[in-house]
Amino acid sequence: MLPAVNRISYRAKPAASNAVLNRLFKASWPNHRARDFQPMLRRSLTHVCAYDARRLVGFVNVAWDGDKHAFLLDTTVHPSTRRCGIGSELVRRAAELTKQAGAEWLHVDFEAELTHFYRVRGFRSTRAGLIHFSGAIIQRRAK
Ligand SMILES: CC(C)(COP(=O)(O)OP(=O)(O)OC[C@H]1O[C@@H](n2cnc3c(N)ncnc32)[C@H](O)[C@@H]1OP(=O)(O)O)[C@@H](O)C(=O)NCCC(=O)NCCS
Repeated sequence: MLPAVNRISYRAKPAASNAVLNRLFKASWPNHRARDFQPMLRRSLTHVCAYDARRLVGFVNVAWDGDKHAFLLDTTVHPSTRRCGIGSELVRRAAELTKQAGAEWLHVDFEAELTHFYRVRGFRSTRAGLIHFSGAIIQRRAK
């Protein structure tokens, strides 16, 4: 059953344990392997979490060069709560917090099917480059 949208709450930079994040990522990303999120969270400009009651159902992270450039990463919504606006709201809040922090640019990359999802939040297309040192991402994207 989809959650009532007004029951979803959002928090910027909350403490988020590895157990809780790994549970969300395992349900959301096919090849997720449990990892330690804490070093990443410590270095971030911000991250935003979405909760259905107390259950974590969404997450997005903003990495930062400490100056003008920030990068949106790991936009994630639990499969049971998708397509009711949570992902869009996470991105909207992350962008607003990034702007407030003084960054001038917010970058993101994504698969082709999410072009509309990011475009309606204001992201324009640009040419960009990417290296994955094991080659795994390039192969997946080249499908
Ligand atoms: C991508 C993701 C974060 C979207 O979250 P969400 O809460 O379902 O997104 P929203 O409900 O805000 O979607 C808003 C609109 O974006 C578009 N959209 C969302 N997910 C989409 C998808 N998988 N494919 C195509 N369009 C999509 C739709 O137009 C949607 O509006 P609609 O439901 O009225 O058609 C979620 O599907 C997810 O976690 N996917 C797995 C991880 C992933 O690939 N993350 C992206 C990293 S770049």
